This record gives sequence, C-alpha cells and structure tokens, in this order.
Amino acid sequence: MKATVNENCIGCGLCAGTCPEVFTMGDDGLAHGGDFGDELLESAQEARDGCPVSAISLDD
Ligand code: F3S
Repeated sequence: MKATVNENCIGCGLCAGTCPEVFTMGDDGLAHGGDFGDELLESAQEARDGCPVSAISLDD
C-alpha cells in the first residue's frame, strides 16, 4: 500500500500522531507518506479519515 499526502496539507500533525509508522513531518512542516504493509492499513485509514483537510489518499 502507498500513502500520499497532497498539497492541501496544512501541517496539523494529526496523521503523524495517529500513525507515525507511515506519516512523518518533513522539514517543510508538512506530512509525508510512503509505502507500508497491510498490518498498518487500519492505522493509516484512521489517519486519513482524521485529516481535517482530506489531504491523504491510500492506494494499492
Ligand atoms: Fe497534513 Fe492532514 Fe496530516 S493536514 S499533517 S495530512 S492530518
């Protein structure tokens, strides 16, 4: 699976707090995703659903 953060991110940090294995905050103050295994899907979905600006997408 792959997590992508789009340009809507306002750097609130919620995703990195909810699922730090997948989302990290960059030097630019914005979140960055990446590839992750199925065992992290539920946590990543929780982060996606909690993002206040719907900046996160999860794909196969
Ligand atoms: Fe950005 Fe949403 Fe995460 S605003 S820091 S992608 S929760």
